Amino acid sequence: MRIKVYDTPQRAAHALAAYLSRAIARTPDLVLGLPTGRTPIPLYRELAALGKRRDIDFSRVTTFNLDEFRGKGDGDQGSYRAFMQEHLFRHVNLMPRNVHFLNGRAEDIRAECERYERAIVRAGGIDLQILGLGANGHIGFNEPGRRLIARTHCTRLTAPTRAANAAFFDGDVRKVPRQALSMGMVTILHARRIVMLATGSGKARCVARMVNGPLTTEVPASFLQVHRQLDVLLDRAAAKYLR
Ligand code: GLP
Repeated sequence: MRIKVYDTPQRAAHALAAYLSRAIARTPDLVLGLPTGRTPIPLYRELAALGKRRDIDFSRVTTFNLDEFRGKGDGDQGSYRAFMQEHLFRHVNLMPRNVHFLNGRAEDIRAECERYERAIVRAGGIDLQILGLGANGHIGFNEPGRRLIARTHCTRLTAPTRAANAAFFDGDVRKVPRQALSMGMVTILHARRIVMLATGSGKARCVARMVNGPLTTEVPASFLQVHRQLDVLLDRAAAKYLR
């Protein structure tokens, strides 16, 4: 695990955008795993700016987003699909057919999850997975609990996670869906390279447990310790409890 600490969230986002732009220049058909949440917004802003200046070329890149709310799909307000459209997709030259998303509106949820796993395999697997960190230690929507699910699945969201997502639903936690579809722990850990971006003091305790703690289903992100190609990008606030 390589850990890098930046002065501000903006600097961390800037460094990751530069890293991504080098990765795509080297491998134009990169398969990229993407997160949502507040943390990656400065990153997407940087990528949008690079895209506008044609300093990054997404034309052959394939993307897979980590997760989606159950009941939400393309065009739905509050969907992660809409979030990505607003913050990244409409600003860069990704081909719509290369953008992959879980459809939270699918009738047969199990078939939808299997479809997603197959699509990832067909794309050759994820080359580079970018992750955010839930304040309770979740990655994607792999929530803390007695067990973790290996593959893409439908999950019940914990109260803190629904509260953290209320910002995307007019600040009203009652509007946040109770379930979501998410890549599983193994789906994520099979990415060839993982970059975790975590910023702000609200993540500091969790970052310390993820980096120095035991592997435990109570902190799903702790399982990232087994990955050989993991970079953790932090700002000072998120790094404050690291030894
Ligand atoms: C959400 C997403 C995660 C994200 C996390 C952190 O629930 N499912 O993929 O990493 O929460 O969100 P934020 O960056 O807003 O703190």
